Amino acid sequence: MEERKGFKSTFGFLMAAVGSAVGLGNIWGFPNKMGSNGGFAFLLVYIILAVLCGYIVMVGELAIGRKTGKSAIATYQTLSRKFKWLGWLATLSPFLILSFYCALGGYCIKYMVLNVGNLFGAEFGTNGLSGGAVFEAFMLNQTEGVVFGIIFLLLTMLIVMGGVAGGIEKFCSVGMPALAVMLVVIIIRSCTLPGAVEGLKFMFMPNFEPLKENFLGVLATAGGQMFFSLSLGMGVMITYGSYLDKKKDIAKNALVIICFDTLVALMAGLAVLPAAFALDPEGKIGGPSLLFVTLQNVFDNMGTIGAVFGIIFYLLVILAAVSSSISLLEVIVTHFCDKAAAKGKGDKRKAYSVIAALAASVLMVLVCLDGLGYSGYWVPGRVLVDGAWQYTAMYNDCWLDFFDMLSEGIMMPLGALLMCLMIGYEIGPDVVRDEIERNEGHKMKSYGFFKICVRFITPLLMAMVLIGQIKDFFL
Ligand code: TRP
Repeated sequence: MEERKGFKSTFGFLMAAVGSAVGLGNIWGFPNKMGSNGGFAFLLVYIILAVLCGYIVMVGELAIGRKTGKSAIATYQTLSRKFKWLGWLATLSPFLILSFYCALGGYCIKYMVLNVGNLFGAEFGTNGLSGGAVFEAFMLNQTEGVVFGIIFLLLTMLIVMGGVAGGIEKFCSVGMPALAVMLVVIIIRSCTLPGAVEGLKFMFMPNFEPLKENFLGVLATAGGQMFFSLSLGMGVMITYGSYLDKKKDIAKNALVIICFDTLVALMAGLAVLPAAFALDPEGKIGGPSLLFVTLQNVFDNMGTIGAVFGIIFYLLVILAAVSSSISLLEVIVTHFCDKAAAKGKGDKRKAYSVIAALAASVLMVLVCLDGLGYSGYWVPGRVLVDGAWQYTAMYNDCWLDFFDMLSEGIMMPLGALLMCLMIGYEIGPDVVRDEIERNEGHKMKSYGFFKICVRFITPLLMAMVLIGQIKDFFL
């Protein structure tokens, strides 16, 4: 059997894991959710959840992955009798996320090209049209949507083909620091615009009303966001853990990943919202409209230099998105590579990367064709009554939202909840401790905390998040 090649350095591992965590969730999800759910109060709830759930699940996933040194599917099969099948959930879910992630990544490429066009006054720029008009035309152009989605998916595939050290680690070790630099450039520009302070107020002003009014709702929003943002509950950290050197300290690395991810989410808020409030006060501040309508208006309102900031900004988002999508594809590819290696078939990574990307492209093409619902495909919960669309209980207005809610709202918290039950009650938390302490000198100082959380607190909170999300989903 061939040796399984993993990450070369701690820095490389950290950049890959942070790269997976930092993504579209941080840039469009976090600032907006924080602003509309109580500002600073939401941040507090988020941080508490990150400590009580995020940290526990992250340590758990990394530890079981490294212990077995196998893919998510094989990890659960090796460790558990009751939860043998859980790895399948953890491997199927990435397909759902990839579907809309690649579609959106494609949009970012399109918008980078658009700003290049603006810079040179070329025809493929905005041509004086408003952000809203440009976006609508793009959404209605199904061919273009699919083409850019495929370009993004190909990029993802090529990196994964290069392997864990040769592709993912290399890309992230350069891409993540570059992303940080670009983010700082954008923050400086954004926060020095006149009127920027409104955006800061929107995001950071503490407001405990939403917490009082709808505590479960805020908890569910913060919880879903946290799972998505930290790449948990989907086999990613199990897979990355399986490629981690036995000598590395899991508990410390988990903490670093969480801190960086939260930091970048806050930085993204500083980069995006002040500019939006200053230059497009009427614009929408959440979701794809923020990224592609409001911000494009912001760049257009800056004059010629706006195109330069536009290019930097969309490039930054592409980096963040690619480093996340490669982690998703890797979960699937690792499974098949391991299987092939076990059968003595040799290194089949390249072939499997292509097959996995092809499989992922099926749902992606659907999301692209749908164009955020602009092109009007059937979606669950939407019915035509007297020539007008009406939404039934399961509110969704496009395939992207549907896949997003299904993955972020249900599959991730469920996957993470079941993993905690497995660790807490079936295999026992000491398995995680032993894995962390397998090297002399690594003491799991947080073991007492981990044990209580993984058995009682984390599952309870996750069940609450799940109930809140399901309520949102169906009612
Ligand atoms: N964390 C990424 C973001 O914030 C998305 C992501 C990448 C993800 N890999 C994941 C989410 C695995 C859940 C599981 O955009």
